[in-house]
Amino acid sequence: MKVLTVFGTRPEAIKMAPVVAALRESASVSVRVCVTGQHRSMLDSVLRTFAIVPDDDLDVMSPDQSLSEVFARILARLDPILATWKPDFVLVQGDTVTSTAAALAAFYRRVRVGHVEAGLRTGDMNSPWPEEANRRLTAVVTDRHYAPTERARRALLAEGYPEDAIRVTGNTVIDALLRCTEANARDPALQSRLQMDFDWIDPHKRLILVTGHRRESFGGGFDNICKALATLARRPDVQIVYPVHLNPNVRGPVFGQLGNNESIRLIEPLDYPEFVALMSRADLILTDSGGIQEEAPALRKPVLVMRDTSERPEAIDVGVARLVGTDPAAIVAGVTDLLDDAGRYAAMANGATPYGDGRASARIVADLLECGSS
Ligand code: UD1
Ligand code: UDP
Repeated sequence: MKVLTVFGTRPEAIKMAPVVAALRESASVSVRVCVTGQHRSMLDSVLRTFAIVPDDDLDVMSPDQSLSEVFARILARLDPILATWKPDFVLVQGDTVTSTAAALAAFYRRVRVGHVEAGLRTGDMNSPWPEEANRRLTAVVTDRHYAPTERARRALLAEGYPEDAIRVTGNTVIDALLRCTEANARDPALQSRLQMDFDWIDPHKRLILVTGHRRESFGGGFDNICKALATLARRPDVQIVYPVHLNPNVRGPVFGQLGNNESIRLIEPLDYPEFVALMSRADLILTDSGGIQEEAPALRKPVLVMRDTSERPEAIDVGVARLVGTDPAAIVAGVTDLLDDAGRYAAMANGATPYGDGRASARIVADLLECGSS
């Protein structure tokens, strides 16, 4: 069976890396890796971490790209690969432009589509934007829906997708996270590098790790997030570290408003092993990221989500994540509550991992093999 995996951004690469590894372990599968390059350096960093050398690189990224130009380039550059290699399946992940464009390109060539991380929904087309639309569009042309949770499966059933086309697999991000924490623990060179890279961490202070990049927060949302961080940074018992996403619409306001704040460490995006190590060192995580909402609970880190909605309500339901939105007062109140109330902190850091057991990739590959090459 010929399987073409297509991914292009940092989170897709992290979540597809264990799937690629599991596909390569199967003697009955011929696997080809196509990266779109929707992200360039952040994608390449993940490829290095997981030792993946792509067979095809569509190299579509341009500075401050528009959604449509990325979409159009992917369709045009992926089509010839589909036409000549003729895969039995195309595997896509998540809700980016890459995943939707690749799924559509496959559908137009009558190639079956497997969707990893299917069925996430907020019910609000504007939040997250444009991801809620992307994943719904992908579902329409998908043959095999790999739902990470039972709730995601129910969302797909409610939209009328057939029960026998859906498998609950867990989220492959937990496969990647476990692989990375095990590799980190076995790597003394990395340990000493981390010691040096993070020598600024003051063990007597509480460490808050921040990330943020959502398009629906560009403008006012990011101004508010920066205001909240500036207020929190005034606490003498707190240190804040923020690896800043490479999107210029994020870097402009963040460096502009927080660049001179000595209590906030703005750093470049970290390679995945370093970032996992930093999450493990943090006391709490403040983020709008999808993947980090899934990883933080597995690392027993309370996570406050700077968004109005989440398509990952499982962590909120079991009490390990909380939505705080982008209102500065609400962000400050959420963090203060956790820092000052040891009981509430302990309840949130209870280690519930609603997103999987580390075997999601194996389940996906088993299902693909069952579907066969017919
Ligand atoms: C994209 C995804 C979003 C995902 C996020 C993960 C869409 C619509 N958005 O958003 O769902 O959550 O990735 O991070 O698919 N850039 C670089 N180097 C990089 C990466 C980005 O310079 O390695 C800059 C470029 O100027 C690029 C811009 O960031 O044009 C935006 O990248 P893009 O992938 O379009 O959007 P993201 O906001 O990263
Ligand atoms: N991540 C990373 N380095 C960083 C910040 C994040 O490796 O500096 C990882 C993080 O652990 C998670 C993924 O990137 O697995 C999340 O990516 P992002 O927040 O960009 O996208 P989202 O998950 O929101 O789509």
